[in-house]
Amino acid sequence: MTTLMLSPDELLTTTRAVRKRLDLARPVEREVLEQCLRIAQQAPTGSNSQTWQFVVVTDAQKRVALAEIYRRSWDIYAGAGDARTVGRATAQSRVADSAQYLADHLHEVPVHVIPCIRGRTDGLPAGDQAGVWGSILPAAWSFMLAARARGLGTVWTTLHLRYEQEAADVLGIPYAKIMQTALIPVAYTQGTDGTDRPRRDGARGIVPPARGSCRHRCLYPCAGVQGYPALSAKNRRPVLC
Ligand SMILES: Cc1cc2nc3c(=O)[nH]c(=O)nc-3n(C[C@H](O)[C@H](O)[C@H](O)COP(=O)(O)O)c2cc1C
Repeated sequence: MTTLMLSPDELLTTTRAVRKRLDLARPVEREVLEQCLRIAQQAPTGSNSQTWQFVVVTDAQKRVALAEIYRRSWDIYAGAGDARTVGRATAQSRVADSAQYLADHLHEVPVHVIPCIRGRTDGLPAGDQAGVWGSILPAAWSFMLAARARGLGTVWTTLHLRYEQEAADVLGIPYAKIMQTALIPVAYTQGTDGTDRPRRDGARGIVPPARGSCRHRCLYPCAGVQGYPALSAKNRRPVLC
C-alpha cells in the first residue's frame, strides 16, 4: 500500500469533507482499513482507557439500512437549515449541495466506519462527558487523516445519531453499553487533491500580540492569547484583542 507524498502540514490542511468525489465503484481493501484503524488507536484516551470500538460496515444491506436512517435525519436537518446559514449563504449552499449528494448516495459508499466508545454520556456532568468524547474523537480524526494519506476520502457525519438506537439494532451494537459517536463514510477519492480552505477567525487565537499593541484598551491587553476575550477597561465587557 502506497501513501500520498504529503507533508504533515499538507495532510492536516487538506483533509476535507469529501462527498461528491468519493469513488463509489472502487472497493476499499480490508488491509488498508486495518492500517488506518491501527493508526487511529495511537490517539490519546482518558486514563489510557482505550475503550474505543470501531464498527466497520461493509455489508450492503446494513449500509442501505444506515443510509435510510441517515436520510430521515438529513431531511429534518435540511428542512430546518436556513436559520443557521444566514450570512454564510454561498459557502453553506455549496456544503448543502454536497451534503444532499451524500444523503442521496450514502448507501453506495463502500465502507461506513462508526467510532464507538464503551459507556454512555447521557445525564453525565460536562466534565465526565468531555472525558468520554475526548477518548474517541481524536482517534476518529486520526483515522480520517490516515485514510486521506492513503488516497481515501472521508467525511465526519453525525446525523444518524438522531436515531442511534435504531442504528444500533441494525448493527447489533448493545445500545445501553456502547455509544456511537459518528458515521464516517469511506471510499477512494476521484483525484487526490485537497484544498487548504480559509477558516473563520479561529487562527487569531494562535499568535499573541506584542505587549501594549492592543487597540481595544483591554483590561488585560496582551496578557492572554490574541483572539481570547479580555475585559475592556472601559466597560468591563469582554472584547477580542
Ligand atoms: C461534529 C460534526 C458533525 C458533522 N456532521 C455532518 C453530517 O451529519 N453530514 C455531513 O454531510 N457533514 C457533516 N459534518 C461535516 C462538516 O459539514 C464539514 O466538516 C464542514 O463542512 C467543513 O468541511 P471542509 O473540511 O471540507 O471544509 C460534520 C462535521 C462535524 C465536525
